[in-house]
Amino acid sequence: MNPDWDAVARQTVERCRRLARYSEEPGWTTRTYLSAPMHDVHRALREWLAPCGCAVSIDAAGNLRAVRGGSHIAPKLVIGSHLDTVIHAGAFDGVLGVVMGVALFEALGRRELPFDIELIGFSEEEGVRFGLPFLGSRAVTGDLDEAVVAMMSPAIREFGLDPAELPPARLRGPVAGYMEFHIEQGPVLEQLGLPVGIVEAIAGQSRLEVRFEGSAAHAGTTPAHLRKDALAGAAEWIVAVERAMRDTPGLVATVGRITAEPGASNVIAGAAVASLDIRHARDEVRHRAVQRLVGEAEAIASGRGLRACSETRSDLPATPMDAGFVALFEEAVRAAGYPVHRMPSGAGHDAMILAAHVPAAMLFVQSPGGLSHCPQESVREDDVAAALACGAEFLSVLERRHAGGTV
Ligand code: HGY
Ligand code: MN
Ligand code: MN
Repeated sequence: MNPDWDAVARQTVERCRRLARYSEEPGWTTRTYLSAPMHDVHRALREWLAPCGCAVSIDAAGNLRAVRGGSHIAPKLVIGSHLDTVIHAGAFDGVLGVVMGVALFEALGRRELPFDIELIGFSEEEGVRFGLPFLGSRAVTGDLDEAVVAMMSPAIREFGLDPAELPPARLRGPVAGYMEFHIEQGPVLEQLGLPVGIVEAIAGQSRLEVRFEGSAAHAGTTPAHLRKDALAGAAEWIVAVERAMRDTPGLVATVGRITAEPGASNVIAGAAVASLDIRHARDEVRHRAVQRLVGEAEAIASGRGLRACSETRSDLPATPMDAGFVALFEEAVRAAGYPVHRMPSGAGHDAMILAAHVPAAMLFVQSPGGLSHCPQESVREDDVAAALACGAEFLSVLERRHAGGTV
């Protein structure tokens, strides 16, 4: 397998930019769980995969599944990433990993490998629609509980799928491991002047909602000392979140969304709900920070005559990547002729969910400017070419291991 990776990278970037136009919002890239434009994404991927001789299907959770081979008893390799986006996203977060998988399928042509490969385009990783991330990969690993399935079911039916078919969506047969290509979404590789990085571990993350309750009142007639302003309380707490981040090394804590009720400019907010996204490489540090910030919300509320309550929407442990697969990636990156750099991931990825079930590893592609989750997100074609060459070498290393009987 030795195509002109520069040409393949150019096509890969063009394809990502085409998929970015499939959006709920003209002029922006916003594609949340099972929204209508996901049908267009599936259609384009089917079109590109058609000549590759693989079986393509959409499972009951809306994940695109493309199985190459389908006849080996040897444990299969899974390649994946997500097809949903945040609001006003860039063109590469998630999508690049799936389109690179398509490019590897095309480069393989009809070449026989001693193992099957399943490419998965996960339907929901960001957690925008329901505030709950990784629904697509959790359907594949069988980690969806009944309450979550009940929450998803109307969206699944509306997309033309059947929630009763979720159990068969689970990954079947022996799996050698999972690999995910993804943009770094941070500044490290650019600062080091490297095209790719091998992920060693993914930071743990908690997502909460914190609700402040006071009393709605007239903005024009209520003097300061009689106010129970929930939005002002939330605002004071948001500054406390930032303070906690600044005084805890390695912690990131973000309030990305706030809503006020009733939300009129001439009404003092009777309630305010703030999201909290908090991450750290060590779970005990993250959990201590969550405890501190929930306590500070309660203290700020009581100081203002408000009430505060919090709900933890998701809590994912820090996840080390599989040492064996990381070593495989190291061998592949070296064989492709690129410097090896191991690094942590502050961003969450579907690899966190798969890693609880099968060996998982990730290869980062440099993010120019470290920008992501915004329209300015980009990649450089020569870095994509490097990552593709590393991915091809990874398959060759796995093939040699199979031949040597060491898989
Ligand atoms: O939020 C994240 O870390 C990822 O982009 N879903
Ligand atoms: Mn993302
Ligand atoms: Mn992502």
